[in-house]
Amino acid sequence: MMNRFLIICLLSATSLVGHAQFSQAGRDSIYNVSKQDHQQMKDQLGISISNRPGPSGNPNDPNAANTDEDNVRAYTLPDPLTLSNGGKVESSEEWSEKRRPELVELFESEMYGRLPQNIPAVTWKVTSVKDTTIGNFPIKEKRLSGIVDNSGYPNIKVEIELLLATPAHVSKSVPTVVHFGFIRWPFGPRPEQSISLLSPNEPDWKQQLISRGWGYAILNPTSVQLDNGAGLRQGIIGLVNKGEYRKPDDWGALRAWAWGASRVIDYFETDQDVDIDRVAIEGLSRYGKAALVAMAFEPRFSLGFIGSSGAGGAKILRRNLGEQVENLASSAEYHWFSGNFIRYASTKTVDDLPIDAHELIALCAPRPVFISAGSPFVEGSWIDAKGSFLAGVHAGPVYELLGKRSLAADEYPFLGTPLIDGEIAFRQHAGAHSNGPNWSTWIAWASRYWKN
Ligand code: GCU
Repeated sequence: MMNRFLIICLLSATSLVGHAQFSQAGRDSIYNVSKQDHQQMKDQLGISISNRPGPSGNPNDPNAANTDEDNVRAYTLPDPLTLSNGGKVESSEEWSEKRRPELVELFESEMYGRLPQNIPAVTWKVTSVKDTTIGNFPIKEKRLSGIVDNSGYPNIKVEIELLLATPAHVSKSVPTVVHFGFIRWPFGPRPEQSISLLSPNEPDWKQQLISRGWGYAILNPTSVQLDNGAGLRQGIIGLVNKGEYRKPDDWGALRAWAWGASRVIDYFETDQDVDIDRVAIEGLSRYGKAALVAMAFEPRFSLGFIGSSGAGGAKILRRNLGEQVENLASSAEYHWFSGNFIRYASTKTVDDLPIDAHELIALCAPRPVFISAGSPFVEGSWIDAKGSFLAGVHAGPVYELLGKRSLAADEYPFLGTPLIDGEIAFRQHAGAHSNGPNWSTWIAWASRYWKN
């Protein structure tokens, strides 16, 4: 069974794919340039003290992250329904006109960064179309390239890589799930496609979607923005900044990946194979974080599938279990966020953060969102599955204000229990760091919204 550490190594390796450097020297250079960029951002912020180090993800290390519920400290969460002036939000209008924009502003300035004003246009080109199969199912597979206008800075070229597969010989447009992930398998011979690598007893997620009559798309995030600090002067962030450093509230990689997903929807609006009213976003781990950011900021996504997104995604950041803000703000991960976020691991603490993950989920309201996690016995506790469950629970009052059903239980459910009766759904499957074992449950839940 492929474990979480192996998957994370694979993901980390993909962060190098764009550099075409797998050598030790290449890795060293990415590490060093990321550190330099992290330092220059701290200089811009006027931070002269060291960042507090985060705990280790290795349970055997002396500074291992807390995995024990009994050691979770008390914390106070910001109330999603209290305005910054202290007033209470009492109607859906007050939510959408006053409180939601306040939260958007806070997430943009403090955590994920702002989209620049002058992002150049993307022109989509279909590079190939073929009839093929996935497992036993016939599909129409298109490969596309989203070419970003780089006339403002020709040194940087950005071409968004996308694959779209819809059931073959179907004349109507179909609901489609956008997945953040690999299109080309970057690690040698491609593994057998008919089974899921991480849940071998279930058909691959793509087959499950196609057999349901739905489509899938795969967006390669690193074709939008590289997954390391060394790449911040390249990719879409570097192109807009003409190869210069970011400013403290500029977007980070998560926002850039989410921006790429919005450009995919732009393309879908021109493609009759896709039902534009029924498009979901899905991802795992760092791409689970990206999926939640995309869902929160892009209203055209109708459903979300947020897999093992952990800290910086659906997990309550104030909970001292698993990964912490100090890890996210280190030179290994700060590039996912705005530069401002580094302050919360140096001059400020997580308690100073004016927002937390429940409010990111609340930004998705009233649209349905499914929070997925694996088993603590297999996946480990780094992602803090319960922290994501609690974020779902605390987003509930916003969903309820908008007339929707929130999580059906506020008691933490046993492993495998699907809490799928409402617009915030949660299931912790019994497997590893994967969305694989939750696809069938997700599809059952999504079918309620995406009726044929
Ligand atoms: C690391 C990181 C997580 C991230 C994960 C991944 O474990 O600390 O925040 O989600 O990598 O994306 O694989």
